[in-house]
Amino acid sequence: MCAVAAREVALEPNVRKWLDNPCRMLIDGQWVTSESGKTFDVFNPATDTVIAQAQAADKTDVNKAVKAARRAFDDGPWTKMSPAERGRIVWKIGDLIMEYQEELAQLESLDNGKPISIARAADVPLASELFQYMAGWATKLNGDQIGITVPYAPGAEWHAYTRREPVGVCGQIIPWNFPLLMAAWKLGPALACGNTVVMKLAEETPLSGLKLAEIMQEAGVPDGVVNIITGFGEEAGAPIAAHPMVDKIAFTGSTEVGRLIVDAAKGNLKKVSLELGGKSPNIVLADADLEKTIPGAANAIFFNHGQCCAAGSRLFVHESVYDQVVEGVADFARNIKLGPGLDPETQMGPLVSRTQFDRVTGFLESGKSQGARAAVGGERGDGDGYFVKPTVLVDVKDDMEVYQEEIFGPVVTASKFSDLDEELIKRANDTVFGLASGIWTQDIGKAHRLAAKIRAGTVWVNCYNIFDAALPFGGYKQSGWGREMGEQVLNNYTECKAVTVSL
Ligand code: NAI
Ligand code: MG
Repeated sequence: MCAVAAREVALEPNVRKWLDNPCRMLIDGQWVTSESGKTFDVFNPATDTVIAQAQAADKTDVNKAVKAARRAFDDGPWTKMSPAERGRIVWKIGDLIMEYQEELAQLESLDNGKPISIARAADVPLASELFQYMAGWATKLNGDQIGITVPYAPGAEWHAYTRREPVGVCGQIIPWNFPLLMAAWKLGPALACGNTVVMKLAEETPLSGLKLAEIMQEAGVPDGVVNIITGFGEEAGAPIAAHPMVDKIAFTGSTEVGRLIVDAAKGNLKKVSLELGGKSPNIVLADADLEKTIPGAANAIFFNHGQCCAAGSRLFVHESVYDQVVEGVADFARNIKLGPGLDPETQMGPLVSRTQFDRVTGFLESGKSQGARAAVGGERGDGDGYFVKPTVLVDVKDDMEVYQEEIFGPVVTASKFSDLDEELIKRANDTVFGLASGIWTQDIGKAHRLAAKIRAGTVWVNCYNIFDAALPFGGYKQSGWGREMGEQVLNNYTECKAVTVSL
């Protein structure tokens, strides 16, 4: 049972029901408990209290789920369904997400800690739109007709073409920072392309994904096509990545676990796509419109409490406006209202878990001990929850841990540069990651020149954290393999077959 403070939104009756009953997993169309009988606690990060019990799957449950997905792919109705029919089901998932929007937003806010206002305005509608964008691709998975010349068969005539076919059984492992949206990013394209899925939700945030599983059943996704399991990484995630009957594994999370996924996948050489960490540069040129840049640079790092792989966590500011921008961002941070996600006035909630809280406060300590100074924040927030104050670190050297490593919390480092030259570009690119970046300037030529030189999958100019189902997202270097969303994601979820016919 979950205690909610007076000012917080009243929980939907269905949300209460969810929290009062132990959560189950969806395997082969059935709501089941783990074979071992083990469960684990789900926490409200705003209060450090247990709000629900979830099933702790292990390799026995994974095996059951993979076999169900295999049967559904090899023999089930899903792959025989017309593209239009499949598209309509995927579209319907998007419709139902909006029908249950308040319930989903409350579960997300309670479980992850994010402000209810953000869950309502961003996570839920973005998830809905993702499914509806992907639904359209179900009827557009076209191949090409290709003219060929075969030197060793003179005079022969050919009809050659390509087909795009589903990869098969897809394992999908997702993190806790956008639990519903990350599920949508992976399930939408996998289903639109005709695959079947075993998805493992993050152990920190299983609730909205289980609600989504209910929604997918209601939308008419046949039994076994989507199997949603809950549990820990080593027990429930690793067996999916290693399973010989899984054809493809898609992972979002830490770079460290990304490497383990690659190792695990090598047994049957399953296809791998990875969306990993980032340490994204956000660059403010001397001519930037500071009225837009200051809140923009603040939101680039503080959105979702900095728990974004794309977070603009390394701020580079031209020396002529450095003091003004740093003071502006610090001031913005000072005015952010920290509180429980379910309070409608909250602008920043707690971090997701005690582990992340320890991690982020550990980075703050390491920054201080190496000589960085907090212009604002730099310490935990009030209360029992996992609150960390939004922080701007100055006096940062490029070799400090806080500058080099992904913090994944509301902590930005501010650095100065003097010329828009090779030196700045080198510093911006001097990271093992290459996920995102930002540029703030009123000079359109400089913006495009810089955009071309940054080694990252996303460049935002005079904006940040703009996501759309139609835009591909993914990383250069150690930020990942492949792209999610947009037309590009279809490459992750289809195989290309060449058919050659002698006429
Ligand atoms: P993680 O990479 O351990 O967890 C992400 C998912 O992978 C979870 O579902 C987890 O259960 C699963 N997992 C863990 N170990 C696994 C294994 N051996 N085999 C298969 N699946 C496994 O990330 P964690 O521990 O939650 O966060 C640590 C750091 O990772 C964060 O501080 C942040 O820097 C980064 N991270 C990046 C994310 C992104 O969006 N790129 C999301 C979450 C974390
Ligand atoms: Mg981990």
